[in-house]
Amino acid sequence: MKIRTFITFVCLLFLMPVWAQLNVDMESEPAKAADNQHCFNCHANQIYSFENEVSGMTERKAMNPNFIFQPDVFYQGVHRHFACTDCHSPDYENFPHQAELRLEPMYSCIDCHGGDEAFASYHFEAIEEEFGKSVHASRHSENFNCWMCHDPHSYKAMTRSNFKISEIVTYHNQMCSNCHDNPVNFQRISDSTKKPLEQIHEFLPNFKLHFSAVRCIECHTPAEDTLWVSHNVLEKEFAVKKCTECHSANTMLMSSLYKYQNLEARKNRGTLNAVFLNESYVIGANRNIYLNIISLVLFGLTVAGILIHIFFRIKKH
Ligand code: HEC
Ligand code: HEC
Ligand code: HEC
Ligand code: HEC
Ligand code: HEC
Ligand code: HEC
Ligand code: HEC
Repeated sequence: MKIRTFITFVCLLFLMPVWAQLNVDMESEPAKAADNQHCFNCHANQIYSFENEVSGMTERKAMNPNFIFQPDVFYQGVHRHFACTDCHSPDYENFPHQAELRLEPMYSCIDCHGGDEAFASYHFEAIEEEFGKSVHASRHSENFNCWMCHDPHSYKAMTRSNFKISEIVTYHNQMCSNCHDNPVNFQRISDSTKKPLEQIHEFLPNFKLHFSAVRCIECHTPAEDTLWVSHNVLEKEFAVKKCTECHSANTMLMSSLYKYQNLEARKNRGTLNAVFLNESYVIGANRNIYLNIISLVLFGLTVAGILIHIFFRIKKH
């Protein structure tokens, strides 16, 4: 290898993990926690109370369960430094909330993230375009927006942090099954009803294990190089059904699900073994790794043997 190529290569190794880091400060105290306390007094509890100005009494009432959010979950999300009123009207400070507030238009991701250099590595515009091609957008237009999967009060960018593959899979899949396996949420979008996911995916042996080891998007979106998370969910006819797509040496998971860990492994300047050793890995993909190592060692020993042999033959003469 030429020295310049080598230096570039080493530099790249150091840059690699930078792509995979969050910019948000996840360590310090949430910036607006004090402001939000007022909202959480009601919106974190099953029962809220307020002064009824007409009767002059303090009333206790049950909160709509869909309007209850846990502060610790909110403060683990990417928008943890936000005040509720950064996204919602400041008029929500008053209770009873005015009826018209329900009609206020909500921001979309692009309103804040579009064209912003700080978030360029996320490719928001490309994601929006991909999403626009997906069944979710083409069948359901405006009703189906980014917030349907990205809960505004809890979204975490899992693939940008040091989560284990199993944690990433669980979190991502919940974003889909929260709706596809929850009739109430599903009917926010569609009048149709669907069979449970377990029944739809009967063709997979050990459904539970598969759904805890691979993401829905592995099978339901086309392979994608530039984006970390493909958003183009295709019609069911195009879903991956062939077992060998994953259960083979050149498993497609290497360029999707396992790529985060691949980068991690390169950061540590180790090899993919980091993934092999730390995590359950798809059967078929790693079948030969140890055999490969042993055969390499044997090959090395043979070469060494021949060299020593030649050395002594030359020396003798
Ligand atoms: C009201 C404006 C606003 C909206 C709407 C919004 N964001 Fe953000 N988002 C921000 C700001 C500002 C930050 C940086 C926060 C910080 O640094 O504390 C951020 C941070 C993020 C991050 C973390 C970036 C990083 O590298 O740390 C992600 C991921 C993200 N937003 C995704 C989304 C998605 C997906 C949506 C839509 C579902 C969305 N945002 C909607 C303003 C917004
Ligand atoms: C005294 C209790 C109380 C406080 C404080 C409170 N809320 Fe609410 N909020 C409610 C109740 C109850 C509802 C259910 C709908 C209603 O009664 O208007 C609600 C509904 C909402 C809704 C949904 C409206 C809809 O129907 O789509 C939003 C958004 C909201 N609150 C935001 C906030 C924000 C932001 C704050 C803090 C600035 C806040 N609330 C403070 C009690 C409260
Ligand atoms: C990043 C922007 C953002 C922040 C910050 C935010 N919200 Fe929201 N909130 C939204 C959006 C967007 C919706 C509509 C989501 C939908 O239609 O499913 C929403 C919906 C709601 C609802 C109605 C829920 C429903 O199911 O219709 C309530 C209540 C609410 N927010 C309260 C709060 C409270 C309390 C806080 C602060 C702790 C807060 N929000 C912070 C964006 C935000
Ligand atoms: C059908 C569900 C779904 C919809 C709709 C959706 N997303 Fe996502 N999105 C996901 C999942 C799952 C992830 C992976 C979560 C993670 O680890 O960040 C993700 C991740 C992201 C990320 C982080 C990617 C990265 O490189 O780390 C961004 C940015 C994003 N989505 C933007 C959007 C925008 C913008 C829209 C609307 C145009 C949208 N999403 C709509 C499911 C969805
Ligand atoms: C808020 C609800 C919701 C969420 C979240 C959601 N979907 Fe959907 N999905 C729908 C609806 C509604 C349809 C269209 C059903 C119809 O009208 O035929 C659909 C359609 C689909 C289809 C096409 C089925 C067909 O008939 O061809 C697939 C595949 C799919 N979703 C997968 C996913 C995946 C993967 C995720 C997570 C990344 C996800 N969905 C998240 C509601 C949702
Ligand atoms: C191993 C690949 C694979 C995984 C993982 C997978 N699916 Fe599927 N899915 C398929 C195939 C293949 C079909 C088509 C089945 C058929 O038509 O018989 C399908 C069908 C569907 C349908 C269409 C249902 C219908 O008949 O209308 C939905 C919705 C769906 N999947 C959602 C999901 C969700 C949500 C997840 C994650 C929780 C997921 N899938 C994970 C391969 C997969
Ligand atoms: C999207 C990738 C993917 C596809 C497609 C796929 N699998 Fe898997 N499969 C996995 C992963 C990942 C595991 C979990 C490996 C582990 O944790 O040991 C797994 C595990 C298994 C297991 C082990 C179950 C056990 O009890 O230990 C069997 C058997 C299996 N798959 C068979 C199949 C068959 C048959 C098909 C085709 C119908 C198929 N798989 C399609 C990714 C896939």
